[in-house]
Formats: sequence, structure tokens, C-alpha cells
Amino acid sequence: MRVVILFGTEMGTAESAADSIAAELSGAHDVSVHDMTDFDIEDLDVRDFHVIVCSTYGDGDLPTGAEPFADALDRHAPELTGLRFAVFGLGDTVYGDTFNRGGEIIAEKLIARGATQVGEHARHDASTEVRVKHMAQQWAATLDIPALVSA
Ligand SMILES: Cc1cc2nc3c(=O)[nH]c(=O)nc-3n(C[C@H](O)[C@H](O)[C@H](O)COP(=O)(O)O)c2cc1C
Repeated sequence: MRVVILFGTEMGTAESAADSIAAELSGAHDVSVHDMTDFDIEDLDVRDFHVIVCSTYGDGDLPTGAEPFADALDRHAPELTGLRFAVFGLGDTVYGDTFNRGGEIIAEKLIARGATQVGEHARHDASTEVRVKHMAQQWAATLDIPALVSA
């Protein structure tokens, strides 16, 4: 199964989480990791499993690195029925109500195009002692991708 990991980051934390997820999944799957900034939405393929790794900035906004991807989804409104994706979001509870909105915003945009979110929506909290790479690796280990794809 091809697994396409897309990260959206401001300062690089989401990229290191994406790398941990890739390391965990690469034993069993054909995994690639892409910065959302460089990813052409025409390359979204409903046969692939997608993992979205996205932080939160501003006031519950997307990080700069996710904006081109989000804008392209809005502008081109691709038909994504059948596309399956899971989300590992990053944020900080110190920001209150906007906690982890970045990953949620991308999920909402993909769902609006017909895609289906599967698995547990992970939300890392930078205010805790939980190390993001560790949490990302543990989360990835719980993803039963063949089961999530066929459910
Ligand atoms: C200026 C600034 C604004 C932020 N705004 C939010 C926010 O609104 N909600 C939230 O949950 N986290 C917010 N965060 C926390 C980041 O999402 C968190 O530190 C994350 O791990 C950063 O990941 P990145 O390095 O991949 O961008 C903010 C961080 C900074 C520095």
C-alpha cells in the first residue's frame, strides 16, 4: 500500500513528526513524505492512503507551509471521493479554543471534497512533556492501514 505523508509546518516540528511516522510505517508500506508547500494537489490519488501532519499558528490558523495546499483545495475543488486519510495534528493548549485547529482545518477541507477521515485524530500538545516524535511514532504504530482502507 502506498502511504503519502503530507506535513504542514511553520518551524519544522510537524516535519519531524512526519519523519517519525514514515519510519514507523516504512517496514510494511511504500511511504513518501512531502512538504505541503511543494505538493501538487493533482497528485492526490484516491488509491493511496494519506497521513496529514499539520501544526497550528496565528489564532487557530494554518501554518504558512500548509497554506498553498489549503488554497489549492479551495481553488480547484478536486473530487476526492474514496480518498482515505488520517490526521496527526500539532498545537498547544495554551492557545485555548484554537487548540490544534490546523489539522482540523485540513481535515475539513478534504472531507468537503469527498474524502474520508479514518483512525484516531491525534492532537499533540506542546505544553506537555510528551515528545512529539515519540507520540507520532506510537500513533503510527496503532494505524492498521489495510483495515482502515477497507472499512
Ligand atoms: C506564534 C504562535 C502561534 C500559535 N498558535 C497556536 C494556536 O492558535 N493553536 C494551537 O493549538 N497551537 C498554536 N501554536 C503552537 C504550535 O502549533 C506548536 O508549537 C507546534 O508544535 C508547532 O509546530 P511546527 O513547528 O511544525 O509549526 C502556536 C505557536 C506559535 C509560536
